[in-house]
Amino acid sequence: MKIETLAIHAGNHSDPTKGAVSTGAASTGAVSTGAVSTGAVSTGAVSTGAVVSPLILSTTFERAADGNIVEGRDIYTRASNPNRRALEEKLAILEGGSEAIAFASGQAATMSIFHSLGGNSHVILPNDIYYNTKVIIDNLYANFGLTCTAIDMTDLGAIKRAIKKNTKLIWIETPSNPSLKITDIQAVVKIAKAKNILVACDNTWATPFFTRPFEHGVDLIMHSTTKYFGGHSDILGGVVILPPAPPLGVRATVATGAIRTFQTVGGAVPSPFDCWLLSRSLSTFAIRMPVHAQNAMKLATFLEVQPQIEKVNYPGLKSNEYHKVAKKQMNNADGVPCFGGMMSILVKGGQKEAMELASKLRLFKHATSLGGVESLIEHRFSVEGIHSSSPENLLRISVGIENIEDLIADFEKAFQ
Ligand SMILES: Cc1ncc(COP(=O)(O)O)c(C=O)c1O
Repeated sequence: MKIETLAIHAGNHSDPTKGAVSTGAASTGAVSTGAVSTGAVSTGAVSTGAVVSPLILSTTFERAADGNIVEGRDIYTRASNPNRRALEEKLAILEGGSEAIAFASGQAATMSIFHSLGGNSHVILPNDIYYNTKVIIDNLYANFGLTCTAIDMTDLGAIKRAIKKNTKLIWIETPSNPSLKITDIQAVVKIAKAKNILVACDNTWATPFFTRPFEHGVDLIMHSTTKYFGGHSDILGGVVILPPAPPLGVRATVATGAIRTFQTVGGAVPSPFDCWLLSRSLSTFAIRMPVHAQNAMKLATFLEVQPQIEKVNYPGLKSNEYHKVAKKQMNNADGVPCFGGMMSILVKGGQKEAMELASKLRLFKHATSLGGVESLIEHRFSVEGIHSSSPENLLRISVGIENIEDLIADFEKAFQ
């Protein structure tokens, strides 16, 4: 099945149960949920037949008369619940993985991976990674003996030179944030495999619509589901997805077990409502993504020739230094090259000129985050602070799915 179909049907089970008739609270599995809170206790003897997986808010689920756990039934919502399971099923299928582990934020998902490595571990990551990913290691895990080396991930020699005896993970983020550098995933995996090092890929920006990292051999995929998966700037979430099939090394098996434990015991879990909402958003994921990409391509082409713009960082442009690598690994399910909805521009001048341009735009809201239906623009240097490696004249743009003529007209006006 193609991604457009999977995004709608995966994880969305019509209610097949006997005895689950209360509004918005039926079960999604093969047995009654046993949910004990109001609106979730089954009172009837027929299935609701609800076409959309219902929302089950109950935090606890009833046991059998003898106190034993009913097979297939949840126990306590931190450990598992029907809406999270439905979401995880959908996310695993969309990335082509075997299992998805959902979190309350992208940062919690990232933490679960770093945590699984254990103390005295070393991570290699890109020097233009999402800023707060590195902050997790520097500020939260340094005391536990987790260290990292930040390098240019497009320089394969730099990766080899950065490997230490205790390097356990190479972290890829492609396109990178905010310079839109494209990492050759296969080339990095080759280096890592030779040294028995795990590779994780933050696929938030590309999404499986444009890049499918498991097909290139990575061991773990992470997402901030807050972005394109959520798509409407109204849900915070994250996920780690495990690869389609073992064999993984012993180290990988330990790590993946630890990630599920980090979720269920650590407890940074998404609420049933967030899971339900995210599943709903994902139904239109495959319809939104091509529009983001088409709009971004047209906007990048327009901006590239404007006298006020020094450079456009968008891998879809033929002039872009990463275009060749991007064409190799960024394409839609039919193999047509597509490059996503993110770009950044360097404005001629400095911070002042960049800020002025951002403030003159009306449709592009000056705000952080990305991946929503609405277009956003952001000055990364001032957001990231004095340690930022972003150029001061850089504006990051998340191109939404508005009409592209309106988006271009907004820039035309701002340039006047
Ligand atoms: C590429 C990338 N990874 C991870 C995150 C963190 O995700 P969250 O904000 O959901 O914790 C972000 C947030 O902007 C991001 O852009």
